[in-house]
Amino acid sequence: MRYLTFALAKGRLAKKSMALFEKIGITCDEMKDPTTRKLIFTNEELGLRFFLAKPSDVPTYVEYGVADIGVVGKDTLLEENRNLYEVLDLGYGACKMCVCGPEEARDLLKRNEIIRVASKYPVIAKNYFQNKKNQSVEIIKLNGSVELAPVVGLADVIVDIVETGSTLRENGLTVLEEVCPLSARIVVNQVSLKMEHTRIRAFLTDVAAALKDEEEKETK
Ligand code: PRP
Repeated sequence: MRYLTFALAKGRLAKKSMALFEKIGITCDEMKDPTTRKLIFTNEELGLRFFLAKPSDVPTYVEYGVADIGVVGKDTLLEENRNLYEVLDLGYGACKMCVCGPEEARDLLKRNEIIRVASKYPVIAKNYFQNKKNQSVEIIKLNGSVELAPVVGLADVIVDIVETGSTLRENGLTVLEEVCPLSARIVVNQVSLKMEHTRIRAFLTDVAAALKDEEEKETK
């Protein structure tokens, strides 16, 4: 049997996803070893293979078809804009993409002058300001700790993920506008969905049922 291959965004998302998959009988004991540095895991019995990839590379592995299925955040999907099918919202990893800054910057978002926007997500930031708001911006790509930019004067505002809001609060920043809600998604390679239709369909049906089951338990 051909391996059905998963590319998982390594870290919290991969752990949470494997815990969910375990409920539908998809297991990989090897991956549970906290000391392992391995990036490829297999379950020979079930014909499954798992890659642990950097989140922004997951859509690439899936688009090229070396992974049939990917688990990754909607933020990464919007930023990478790859050709693949987004088939299921897993609901977890829920947070928001927001325009944030000091309260004083709120006015700058209403005027039609060029502002500086720092972000780890230059595509999302550009799309939001140019297409949705019709405002000219200069995008400054950063790779992390983006909240620093408006505080030290590198940018007027940032476009970044807000989860609990504590990073913003602790740096004297606030949400100025919401760009979109985010959460973990399952994506599928376009050819795989046809060639492995039965296995992938069965997997998605099982995952959706497990999610519903979790939801029901939570509301009880
Ligand atoms: C993310 C994000 C925010 C923060 C939001 O950064 O870019 O900085 O988490 O979370 P909060 O609202 O719960 O405070 P991450 O921790 O991934 O680090 P990075 O900024 O270095 O990328």
